[in-house]
Amino acid sequence: MSNTSKPDTQHFTAIERTDVDKLMPIELACHSHPWSEKTFLSCIGGRYFGEKLGEFLQVIEKDESCEQGIGFYIGEYVAGEATLMDICVIPTKQGKGYGKVLLNQFLTHAKKLGATKIFLEVRAKNIAAQMLYMNAGFIEIDRRTGYYPSSSGFGYEDAIVMSRSY
Ligand SMILES: CC(C)(COP(=O)(O)OP(=O)(O)OC[C@H]1O[C@@H](n2cnc3c(N)ncnc32)[C@H](O)[C@@H]1OP(=O)(O)O)[C@@H](O)C(=O)NCCC(=O)NCCS
Repeated sequence: MSNTSKPDTQHFTAIERTDVDKLMPIELACHSHPWSEKTFLSCIGGRYFGEKLGEFLQVIEKDESCEQGIGFYIGEYVAGEATLMDICVIPTKQGKGYGKVLLNQFLTHAKKLGATKIFLEVRAKNIAAQMLYMNAGFIEIDRRTGYYPSSSGFGYEDAIVMSRSY
């Protein structure tokens, strides 16, 4: 087994169509009803903006580094309003602060584009994501009853619509 260390080399890069192969495994691991590759591709370019977070791991024995994907976000910007379409942290890296880093990056990017209002939708049972959003100043503004197929595979789950301003 390789002896690896983790220097502080996390970095964001814009998501391009060629990244989808690498990001689909994270999408599949993170959601009970993940986007298809086709949907993912349709959310790259045009009014969409997205970045992936990666880190370089130094393989000490070989004196070389390899890149590991941590997570990504996809946003949509239209006429002063931005929507968070997707945000994922690979399960083995969850709970370590990366979600907060990704959300802040999304908010910064949206602001640069000119957004003054931010929206998102989250499953009613996704408490981890709701806590992340509430801590970033989002508040619940609406609820869509039975909007999502249930993550348990039986029945439906509400969507909570959240928003914040700049
Ligand atoms: C939601 C998600 C992006 C959060 O990423 P993360 O790296 O695990 O989150 P962080 O470690 O940065 O935690 C940020 C905040 O989220 C909340 N949070 C994270 N995990 C939580 C948990 N298991 N229970 C409750 N709150 C939690 C906390 O408020 C936390 O802040 P704190 O540590 O100061 O208390 C990640 O869990 C994920 O990818 N989930 C699957 C995909 C998903 O549900 N995306 C959202 C779709 S709307």
